[in-house]
Amino acid sequence: MAVRSSRSRTNTPVITTRKASAGPYGARISGVGHYVPDRVVRNEDFEKLFETSDDWIVSRTGMRERRYAAPTQAASDLATNAARHALERAGLPAAEIDCYIVATVTPDYQFPATACLVAANLGAVGKAAFDIEIACSGFIYALPMAASFIRSGIFRRVMIIGSEKLSGITNMTDRNTAILFGDGAGATIVERTDIEGDCFLGCELGADGTNPDLLRVEAGGSRFPLTVESMTENRHKMYMSGREIFKYAVNKMVETSRTVLARANLTTDDVSWVIPHQANRRIIEAAAKRLEVARTKVVINIERYGNTSSATIPIALSETIGSNAMKDGDLILFTGFGGGLSWGSVAWRWSA
Ligand code: ACO
Repeated sequence: MAVRSSRSRTNTPVITTRKASAGPYGARISGVGHYVPDRVVRNEDFEKLFETSDDWIVSRTGMRERRYAAPTQAASDLATNAARHALERAGLPAAEIDCYIVATVTPDYQFPATACLVAANLGAVGKAAFDIEIACSGFIYALPMAASFIRSGIFRRVMIIGSEKLSGITNMTDRNTAILFGDGAGATIVERTDIEGDCFLGCELGADGTNPDLLRVEAGGSRFPLTVESMTENRHKMYMSGREIFKYAVNKMVETSRTVLARANLTTDDVSWVIPHQANRRIIEAAAKRLEVARTKVVINIERYGNTSSATIPIALSETIGSNAMKDGDLILFTGFGGGLSWGSVAWRWSA
Protein backbone atom coordinates (compact mmCIF):
# COMPACT_ATOMS: atom_id res chain seq x y z
CA MET A 1 0.00 0.00 0.00
CA ALA A 2 1.52 3.33 -1.06
CA VAL A 3 2.33 5.83 1.67
CA ARG A 4 3.17 9.35 0.47
CA SER A 5 5.18 11.85 2.45
CA SER A 6 4.95 15.57 1.63
CA ARG A 7 5.66 18.90 3.32
CA SER A 8 3.04 21.32 4.61
CA ARG A 9 3.37 25.11 4.26
CA THR A 10 4.95 25.23 7.73
CA ASN A 11 7.49 22.69 6.47
CA THR A 12 6.17 20.02 8.87
CA PRO A 13 6.28 16.57 7.24
CA VAL A 14 2.79 15.29 6.51
CA ILE A 15 2.12 11.61 5.95
CA THR A 16 -0.85 10.90 3.71
CA THR A 17 -2.14 7.53 2.63
CA ARG A 18 -4.17 6.73 -0.47
CA LYS A 19 -7.84 7.42 0.09
CA ALA A 20 -8.73 3.82 -0.72
CA SER A 21 -6.81 2.66 2.36
CA ALA A 22 -8.62 4.91 4.83
CA GLY A 23 -9.89 2.76 7.72
CA PRO A 24 -10.96 1.92 10.21
CA TYR A 25 -10.15 -1.69 9.54
CA GLY A 26 -10.17 -4.87 11.54
CA ALA A 27 -7.85 -7.89 11.32
CA ARG A 28 -8.74 -11.56 11.04
CA ILE A 29 -6.78 -14.77 10.51
CA SER A 30 -7.60 -16.15 7.08
CA GLY A 31 -5.11 -18.96 6.72
CA VAL A 32 -2.87 -21.21 8.79
CA GLY A 33 -0.31 -23.87 7.89
CA HIS A 34 2.63 -25.73 9.31
CA TYR A 35 5.51 -27.96 8.40
CA VAL A 36 7.66 -30.34 10.43
CA PRO A 37 10.61 -32.26 8.99
CA ASP A 38 10.39 -36.03 8.47
CA ARG A 39 13.14 -37.15 10.85
CA VAL A 40 11.68 -38.24 14.20
CA VAL A 41 14.05 -38.22 17.20
CA ARG A 42 12.67 -40.21 20.13
CA ASN A 43 13.60 -39.91 23.80
CA GLU A 44 15.40 -43.26 23.61
CA ASP A 45 17.76 -41.81 20.99
CA PHE A 46 19.31 -39.56 23.69
CA GLU A 47 20.14 -42.56 25.87
CA LYS A 48 23.06 -43.19 23.48
CA LEU A 49 24.42 -39.66 24.02
CA PHE A 50 24.26 -39.18 27.81
CA GLU A 51 22.69 -40.57 30.96
CA THR A 52 18.94 -40.06 30.63
CA SER A 53 15.76 -42.06 30.14
CA ASP A 54 12.42 -41.93 28.38
CA ASP A 55 10.74 -41.95 31.81
CA TRP A 56 12.67 -38.90 33.03
CA ILE A 57 12.01 -36.90 29.88
CA VAL A 58 8.29 -37.72 29.73
CA SER A 59 7.69 -37.05 33.41
CA ARG A 60 9.72 -33.81 33.60
CA THR A 61 8.79 -32.29 30.20
CA GLY A 62 5.88 -34.19 28.57
CA MET A 63 8.00 -34.71 25.44
CA ARG A 64 8.19 -38.08 23.67
CA GLU A 65 9.64 -37.13 20.31
CA ARG A 66 10.70 -34.13 18.25
CA ARG A 67 11.59 -33.55 14.58
CA TYR A 68 15.02 -32.67 13.23
CA ALA A 69 15.55 -31.01 9.85
CA ALA A 70 17.86 -32.56 7.26
CA PRO A 71 21.38 -31.06 7.04
CA THR A 72 20.37 -29.41 3.75
CA GLN A 73 17.24 -27.76 5.24
CA ALA A 74 17.49 -24.26 6.72
CA ALA A 75 14.88 -22.13 8.52
CA SER A 76 13.75 -20.56 5.23
CA ASP A 77 13.00 -24.02 3.78
CA LEU A 78 10.84 -25.00 6.76
CA ALA A 79 9.15 -21.57 6.64
CA THR A 80 8.49 -21.81 2.90
CA ASN A 81 6.77 -25.19 3.33
CA ALA A 82 4.60 -23.85 6.18
CA ALA A 83 3.76 -20.74 4.12
CA ARG A 84 2.74 -22.87 1.12
CA HIS A 85 0.44 -24.89 3.38
CA ALA A 86 -1.22 -21.71 4.69
CA LEU A 87 -1.60 -20.21 1.18
CA GLU A 88 -3.07 -23.44 -0.14
CA ARG A 89 -5.62 -23.66 2.69
CA ALA A 90 -6.53 -19.97 2.23
CA GLY A 91 -6.73 -20.37 -1.56
CA LEU A 92 -4.38 -17.43 -2.07
CA PRO A 93 -1.38 -16.91 -4.36
CA ALA A 94 1.79 -15.70 -2.62
CA ALA A 95 1.60 -12.38 -4.48
CA GLU A 96 -1.59 -11.52 -2.56
CA ILE A 97 0.43 -11.21 0.65
CA ASP A 98 1.78 -7.66 1.10
CA CYS A 99 4.29 -8.41 3.85
CA TYR A 100 6.16 -11.48 5.10
CA ILE A 101 7.42 -11.54 8.70
CA VAL A 102 9.56 -14.42 9.95
CA ALA A 103 10.16 -14.87 13.68
CA THR A 104 13.30 -16.94 14.23
CA VAL A 105 16.44 -17.33 16.33
CA THR A 106 17.92 -19.69 13.73
CA PRO A 107 17.97 -17.59 10.55
CA ASP A 108 19.65 -18.97 7.42
CA TYR A 109 22.22 -16.16 7.60
CA GLN A 110 23.07 -13.32 9.95
CA PHE A 111 21.64 -11.33 7.04
CA PRO A 112 19.80 -11.19 4.63
CA ALA A 113 16.60 -11.71 6.57
CA THR A 114 15.05 -15.16 6.29
CA ALA A 115 11.71 -13.54 5.34
CA CYS A 116 13.29 -12.14 2.14
CA LEU A 117 14.39 -15.66 1.17
CA VAL A 118 10.95 -17.09 1.93
CA ALA A 119 9.19 -14.46 -0.20
CA ALA A 120 11.62 -15.19 -3.03
CA ASN A 121 11.04 -18.96 -2.71
CA LEU A 122 7.31 -18.30 -3.01
CA GLY A 123 7.76 -16.10 -6.08
CA ALA A 124 6.66 -13.00 -4.13
CA VAL A 125 9.67 -10.83 -4.97
CA GLY A 126 8.99 -7.15 -4.30
CA LYS A 127 6.77 -7.66 -1.26
CA ALA A 128 7.82 -6.30 2.13
CA ALA A 129 9.76 -8.87 4.17
CA PHE A 130 11.64 -8.78 7.45
CA ASP A 131 12.57 -10.90 10.47
CA ILE A 132 11.98 -10.43 14.17
CA GLU A 133 14.10 -12.09 16.83
CA ILE A 134 12.52 -12.45 20.25
CA ALA A 135 13.07 -16.18 20.77
CA CYS A 136 10.06 -18.25 21.83
CA SER A 137 7.91 -15.10 22.11
CA GLY A 138 8.28 -14.50 18.36
CA PHE A 139 4.70 -15.35 17.36
CA ILE A 140 3.22 -13.55 20.38
CA TYR A 141 5.02 -10.36 19.28
CA ALA A 142 4.44 -10.82 15.52
CA LEU A 143 0.66 -11.29 15.72
CA PRO A 144 -0.11 -7.83 17.22
CA MET A 145 2.42 -6.35 14.79
CA ALA A 146 0.60 -7.89 11.82
CA ALA A 147 -2.79 -6.81 13.21
CA SER A 148 -1.49 -3.25 13.64
CA PHE A 149 -0.19 -3.10 10.06
CA ILE A 150 -3.63 -4.15 8.88
CA ARG A 151 -5.70 -1.94 11.16
CA SER A 152 -3.63 1.08 10.10
CA GLY A 153 -4.27 0.40 6.40
CA ILE A 154 -0.57 -0.07 5.59
CA PHE A 155 -1.06 -3.65 4.40
CA ARG A 156 -4.07 -5.73 3.37
CA ARG A 157 -2.52 -9.12 4.14
CA VAL A 158 0.47 -10.08 6.29
CA MET A 159 1.95 -13.57 6.65
CA ILE A 160 3.71 -14.30 9.94
CA ILE A 161 5.86 -17.40 10.18
CA GLY A 162 7.61 -18.87 13.20
CA SER A 163 10.40 -21.06 11.87
CA GLU A 164 13.24 -22.74 13.72
CA LYS A 165 16.04 -25.18 13.12
CA LEU A 166 16.95 -25.44 16.80
CA SER A 167 18.78 -28.74 16.27
CA GLY A 168 21.54 -26.60 14.72
CA ILE A 169 22.13 -24.62 17.95
CA THR A 170 21.49 -27.44 20.42
CA ASN A 171 24.42 -28.64 22.51
CA MET A 172 24.11 -32.39 22.06
CA THR A 173 26.45 -33.02 25.01
CA ASP A 174 24.23 -31.13 27.51
CA ARG A 175 21.43 -33.35 28.82
CA ASN A 176 19.74 -30.34 30.45
CA THR A 177 18.86 -28.82 27.08
CA ALA A 178 19.49 -31.36 24.29
CA ILE A 179 16.25 -33.23 24.93
CA LEU A 180 14.03 -30.14 24.81
CA PHE A 181 14.24 -28.73 21.32
CA GLY A 182 13.00 -29.60 17.84
CA ASP A 183 12.62 -28.08 14.38
CA GLY A 184 9.50 -26.89 12.59
CA ALA A 185 7.54 -23.94 11.23
CA GLY A 186 4.03 -22.52 11.50
CA ALA A 187 2.50 -19.84 9.28
CA THR A 188 -0.50 -17.56 9.81
CA ILE A 189 -2.10 -15.16 7.33
CA VAL A 190 -3.66 -12.08 8.90
CA GLU A 191 -5.89 -10.02 6.65
CA ARG A 192 -8.09 -6.96 6.51
CA THR A 193 -11.74 -7.11 7.46
CA ASP A 194 -14.27 -4.47 8.44
CA ILE A 195 -14.00 -2.94 11.86
CA GLU A 196 -17.03 -4.85 13.21
CA GLY A 197 -15.27 -8.10 12.34
CA ASP A 198 -12.01 -7.19 14.09
CA CYS A 199 -10.61 -10.28 15.83
CA PHE A 200 -7.67 -8.70 17.67
CA LEU A 201 -8.91 -8.12 21.23
CA GLY A 202 -5.64 -7.00 22.80
CA CYS A 203 -2.15 -7.95 23.88
CA GLU A 204 0.26 -7.57 26.76
CA LEU A 205 3.95 -7.88 25.88
CA GLY A 206 7.06 -7.52 28.01
CA ALA A 207 10.79 -8.18 28.29
CA ASP A 208 13.60 -8.12 30.85
CA GLY A 209 17.15 -8.18 29.51
CA THR A 210 18.91 -7.74 32.84
CA ASN A 211 20.08 -11.36 32.97
CA PRO A 212 20.89 -12.66 29.49
CA ASP A 213 22.91 -15.50 31.03
CA LEU A 214 19.71 -17.39 31.85
CA LEU A 215 19.05 -18.40 28.26
CA ARG A 216 21.28 -17.58 25.34
CA VAL A 217 23.63 -18.45 22.53
CA GLU A 218 26.69 -16.57 23.71
CA ALA A 219 29.16 -16.69 20.83
CA GLY A 220 28.69 -15.69 17.21
CA GLY A 221 27.37 -12.13 17.66
CA SER A 222 29.16 -8.79 17.92
CA ARG A 223 29.96 -9.20 21.65
CA PHE A 224 31.66 -12.57 21.38
CA PRO A 225 32.55 -13.31 17.76
CA LEU A 226 33.11 -16.94 16.83
CA THR A 227 36.56 -18.24 17.62
CA VAL A 228 38.02 -21.72 17.56
CA GLU A 229 38.08 -21.58 21.37
CA SER A 230 34.40 -20.55 21.75
CA MET A 231 33.36 -23.27 19.33
CA THR A 232 35.42 -25.88 21.15
CA GLU A 233 33.64 -24.86 24.36
CA ASN A 234 30.23 -25.06 22.64
CA ARG A 235 29.49 -21.40 23.40
CA HIS A 236 27.90 -21.05 19.95
CA LYS A 237 25.17 -23.47 21.16
CA MET A 238 22.20 -22.84 23.41
CA TYR A 239 22.63 -22.55 27.16
CA MET A 240 19.67 -22.42 29.54
CA SER A 241 19.15 -22.23 33.26
CA GLY A 242 15.89 -24.16 33.14
CA ARG A 243 14.87 -24.10 36.79
CA GLU A 244 14.85 -20.27 37.06
CA ILE A 245 13.00 -19.87 33.77
CA PHE A 246 10.35 -22.38 34.80
CA LYS A 247 8.99 -20.19 37.62
CA TYR A 248 9.31 -17.02 35.58
CA ALA A 249 7.43 -18.61 32.68
CA VAL A 250 4.43 -19.69 34.75
CA ASN A 251 4.20 -16.29 36.49
CA LYS A 252 4.41 -14.25 33.30
CA MET A 253 1.96 -16.40 31.34
CA VAL A 254 -0.59 -16.13 34.13
CA GLU A 255 -0.02 -12.41 34.77
CA THR A 256 -0.22 -11.32 31.12
CA SER A 257 -3.20 -13.59 30.41
CA ARG A 258 -5.14 -12.01 33.26
CA THR A 259 -4.16 -8.48 32.16
CA VAL A 260 -5.11 -8.96 28.53
CA LEU A 261 -8.47 -10.53 29.38
CA ALA A 262 -9.36 -7.92 32.02
CA ARG A 263 -8.55 -5.11 29.60
CA ALA A 264 -10.96 -6.64 27.06
CA ASN A 265 -13.63 -7.07 29.76
CA LEU A 266 -13.30 -10.85 29.53
CA THR A 267 -12.63 -13.58 32.07
CA THR A 268 -11.06 -17.00 31.75
CA ASP A 269 -14.62 -18.41 31.59
CA ASP A 270 -14.95 -16.71 28.19
CA VAL A 271 -11.83 -18.45 26.86
CA SER A 272 -12.51 -21.27 24.38
CA TRP A 273 -8.87 -22.19 23.70
CA VAL A 274 -5.53 -21.52 25.33
CA ILE A 275 -2.73 -21.96 22.81
CA PRO A 276 0.44 -21.69 24.89
CA HIS A 277 4.11 -21.83 23.98
CA GLN A 278 5.15 -25.50 24.25
CA ALA A 279 8.27 -25.49 26.44
CA ASN A 280 7.28 -27.94 29.14
CA ARG A 281 3.99 -29.71 29.83
CA ARG A 282 4.35 -28.94 33.55
CA ILE A 283 4.70 -25.19 32.80
CA ILE A 284 1.54 -25.27 30.66
CA GLU A 285 -0.44 -27.26 33.22
CA ALA A 286 0.70 -25.07 36.14
CA ALA A 287 -0.34 -21.90 34.24
CA ALA A 288 -3.70 -23.40 33.19
CA LYS A 289 -4.39 -24.46 36.78
CA ARG A 290 -3.68 -20.99 38.15
CA LEU A 291 -5.84 -19.45 35.43
CA GLU A 292 -8.57 -21.99 36.27
CA VAL A 293 -8.94 -23.03 32.64
CA ALA A 294 -10.17 -26.58 31.97
CA ARG A 295 -7.49 -28.90 30.57
CA THR A 296 -9.77 -29.67 27.57
CA LYS A 297 -9.41 -26.05 26.42
CA VAL A 298 -5.60 -26.12 26.45
CA VAL A 299 -3.83 -27.15 23.27
CA ILE A 300 -0.78 -29.34 23.98
CA ASN A 301 1.22 -31.07 21.25
CA ILE A 302 4.59 -31.02 23.04
CA GLU A 303 4.76 -34.84 23.13
CA ARG A 304 5.24 -34.89 19.32
CA TYR A 305 7.37 -31.83 18.57
CA GLY A 306 9.13 -30.67 21.78
CA ASN A 307 9.97 -26.98 21.95
CA THR A 308 10.25 -25.41 18.48
CA SER A 309 10.55 -21.87 19.91
CA SER A 310 8.69 -19.30 17.76
CA ALA A 311 7.01 -22.13 15.81
CA THR A 312 5.19 -23.87 18.69
CA ILE A 313 2.15 -21.58 18.80
CA PRO A 314 1.48 -21.31 15.03
CA ILE A 315 1.95 -25.09 14.64
CA ALA A 316 -0.54 -25.72 17.47
CA LEU A 317 -2.97 -23.20 15.95
CA SER A 318 -2.66 -24.81 12.52
CA GLU A 319 -3.27 -28.30 13.94
CA THR A 320 -6.28 -27.13 15.96
CA ILE A 321 -7.88 -25.45 12.96
CA GLY A 322 -7.00 -28.43 10.78
CA SER A 323 -8.90 -30.71 13.18
CA ASN A 324 -12.06 -28.56 12.71
CA ALA A 325 -12.32 -28.14 16.47
CA MET A 326 -12.34 -24.32 16.32
CA LYS A 327 -15.80 -22.73 15.99
CA ASP A 328 -16.72 -19.32 14.66
CA GLY A 329 -16.59 -16.80 17.51
CA ASP A 330 -14.30 -18.89 19.76
CA LEU A 331 -12.00 -16.85 21.99
CA ILE A 332 -8.33 -17.86 21.74
CA LEU A 333 -5.78 -16.90 24.36
CA PHE A 334 -2.22 -17.13 23.02
CA THR A 335 0.41 -16.99 25.75
CA GLY A 336 4.15 -17.52 25.80
CA PHE A 337 7.61 -16.58 27.01
CA GLY A 338 11.20 -17.16 26.01
CA GLY A 339 14.70 -15.81 25.63
CA GLY A 340 15.21 -12.15 26.40
CA LEU A 341 13.68 -12.89 28.77
CA SER A 342 10.47 -12.02 26.96
CA TRP A 343 6.80 -12.88 27.34
CA GLY A 344 3.29 -11.96 26.36
CA SER A 345 -0.33 -12.90 25.75
CA VAL A 346 -2.76 -12.09 22.96
CA ALA A 347 -6.57 -12.41 23.00
CA TRP A 348 -8.04 -13.20 19.59
CA ARG A 349 -11.57 -13.96 18.37
CA TRP A 350 -11.71 -16.76 15.79
CA SER A 351 -13.66 -15.89 12.66
CA ALA A 352 -14.19 -18.81 10.28
N1 ACO B 1 17.86 -36.76 32.00
C1 ACO B 1 18.05 -37.11 33.29
N2 ACO B 1 18.29 -36.21 34.25
C2 ACO B 1 18.37 -34.94 33.92
C3 ACO B 1 18.19 -34.50 32.59
C4 ACO B 1 17.95 -35.46 31.61
N3 ACO B 1 17.78 -35.15 30.31
N4 ACO B 1 18.32 -33.15 32.55
C5 ACO B 1 18.56 -32.74 33.81
N5 ACO B 1 18.59 -33.82 34.64
C6 ACO B 1 18.85 -33.84 36.06
C7 ACO B 1 19.61 -32.64 36.54
O1 ACO B 1 20.99 -32.82 36.32
C8 ACO B 1 19.27 -32.61 38.02
O2 ACO B 1 20.07 -33.53 38.68
P1 ACO B 1 20.72 -33.15 40.09
O3 ACO B 1 19.55 -32.93 41.02
O4 ACO B 1 21.55 -34.34 40.41
O5 ACO B 1 21.51 -31.88 39.85
C9 ACO B 1 17.84 -33.14 38.05
O6 ACO B 1 17.62 -33.80 36.77
C10 ACO B 1 16.79 -32.07 38.22
O7 ACO B 1 17.11 -30.96 37.43
P2 ACO B 1 16.17 -29.71 37.32
O8 ACO B 1 16.83 -28.69 36.45
O9 ACO B 1 15.73 -29.27 38.66
O10 ACO B 1 14.92 -30.36 36.57
P3 ACO B 1 13.54 -29.70 36.29
O11 ACO B 1 12.49 -30.50 36.89
O12 ACO B 1 13.54 -28.22 36.55
O13 ACO B 1 13.40 -29.89 34.69
C11 ACO B 1 13.67 -28.58 32.70
C12 ACO B 1 14.37 -29.30 33.84
C13 ACO B 1 12.89 -29.60 31.91
C14 ACO B 1 14.71 -27.92 31.81
C15 ACO B 1 12.72 -27.52 33.29
O14 ACO B 1 13.39 -26.74 34.25
C16 ACO B 1 12.15 -26.58 32.25
O15 ACO B 1 11.38 -26.97 31.39
N6 ACO B 1 12.47 -25.28 32.34
C17 ACO B 1 11.95 -24.25 31.44
C18 ACO B 1 12.56 -24.33 30.10
C19 ACO B 1 12.01 -23.25 29.22
O16 ACO B 1 10.82 -23.09 29.18
N7 ACO B 1 12.83 -22.43 28.55
C20 ACO B 1 12.38 -21.25 27.85
C21 ACO B 1 12.02 -21.48 26.46
S1 ACO B 1 13.35 -21.92 25.42
C22 ACO B 1 13.67 -20.61 24.36
O17 ACO B 1 13.26 -19.50 24.54
C23 ACO B 1 14.61 -20.87 23.18
